[in-house]
Amino acid sequence: MTSIVRVRRAAAGESLAGVAAIQAASFYRAWGIDAMARELRENPVARLFLLEEIPGRVIGFCACWIVAGELHINSLAIAPDARRRGHARRLLTEVFALAVAEGAQAATLEVRRSNVPAVALYESLGFAVEGVRPDYYEQPREDALILWHHRLGAIRG
Ligand SMILES: CC(C)(COP(=O)(O)OP(=O)(O)OC[C@H]1O[C@@H](n2cnc3c(N)ncnc32)[C@H](O)[C@@H]1OP(=O)(O)O)[C@@H](O)C(=O)NCCC(=O)NCCS
Repeated sequence: MTSIVRVRRAAAGESLAGVAAIQAASFYRAWGIDAMARELRENPVARLFLLEEIPGRVIGFCACWIVAGELHINSLAIAPDARRRGHARRLLTEVFALAVAEGAQAATLEVRRSNVPAVALYESLGFAVEGVRPDYYEQPREDALILWHHRLGAIRG
């Protein structure tokens, strides 16, 4: 059966089990799912976008803030068995369009210096490295690259 893939905004209070599974498979120290759920309930600028395979499961997510005309990407991952098929590019392109519709003009995020796939993804979408936070991450200790995109409305899928 051909599956349909769609992006949708998660509702406050819905199960985040699919996100938890992707986090566990993607990050050494994942952002706690309880903290993410609390953010969705209590922080009006917090958004969680899910990439869903229908019928099926959540195969990716993007947790972010839309605040003061900026999109802050806090966490992004695609399920390991679904990578290298354009899913992250599709998810981010849709998130950017939704953020632009809410007034965002720029986007920013931090990424480990050694995360070659993620840096390549962001640079392919027009982000550029504008700063470094030395030793920002732990386990392993590593610099964070600070990336910005200043023309969010210009991104097309
Ligand atoms: C980074 C990540 C989100 C990419 O997801 P993905 O769905 O595989 O990415 P896409 O298939 O949409 O790839 C889009 C572009 O990103 C780059 N890219 C993605 N994976 C790459 C890899 N392993 N090596 C080099 N470049 C890569 C390429 O430029 C690619 O374009 P191309 O396929 O035309 O060459 C995924 O590898 C992931 O979840 N990693 C673990 C979590 C993580 O590091 N999150 C980011 C934290 S800031």
